[in-house]
Amino acid sequence: MELSKIVGKQVYIRQLQNDDFENWCKANESKEFRVMCGESKDSKPPPTEKKKGKFNKMVRQESGLCFAIIRRKDEAYLGSCRLHKLNMCDKNARLAIGLLSDYFGKGYGTDAMKCLLKFGFNELSLHRVELRVLDFNKRGISAYKKCGFKKEGVLRENAYIDGKYYDDIIMSILESEFEK
Ligand SMILES: CC(C)(COP(=O)(O)OP(=O)(O)OC[C@H]1O[C@@H](n2cnc3c(N)ncnc32)[C@H](O)[C@@H]1OP(=O)(O)O)[C@@H](O)C(=O)NCCC(=O)NCCS
Repeated sequence: MELSKIVGKQVYIRQLQNDDFENWCKANESKEFRVMCGESKDSKPPPTEKKKGKFNKMVRQESGLCFAIIRRKDEAYLGSCRLHKLNMCDKNARLAIGLLSDYFGKGYGTDAMKCLLKFGFNELSLHRVELRVLDFNKRGISAYKKCGFKKEGVLRENAYIDGKYYDDIIMSILESEFEK
């Protein structure tokens, strides 16, 4: 499926492509990124072979519909986002996003997610988009709320990281709640 380019205020999203690999790998170099994705604080970036396998699956759309996030003013690659676990019978999907650490906290993530939601609700005619986020990911939770996601549940002590259990928060947004 050819994915459209969706333009936001500061960023646009477009289909992830083969020559994004080098930039895409940079996200995993950040410890904060890895910890927010549920990895140990002692984790190391995975080896290139493993990353290549994961990336190729994303480009082939075997891990959902995957987009690169590009800054409008200079075409810088900021990160990636995707809709996965698509269920076209029930019209729902799950959202995932990750930026390169240099670009955290500048509003790019919120802008990119609004583009992705626009794609999901307008082009795929989804009814609901959900996500899971670790309860200590305060920046993520705040960005999701800014997009209109509401907290709807807690998977208690669902993640075991560095010898401790953490809650996963489930958040969702319905098509009727999205400000287009
Ligand atoms: C999560 C992520 C996509 C958010 O994108 P972002 O561009 O950094 O977020 P934004 O700048 O759009 O919004 C962040 C908001 O969190 C707020 N924030 C930051 N740290 C915070 C904290 N400790 N507590 C509460 N709010 C916080 C910011 O103030 C900002 O809100 P504001 O615009 O009202 O001031 C990005 O930070 C990222 O990729 N993080 C690492 C990977 C990750 O966590 N992925 C998601 C896994 S579920």
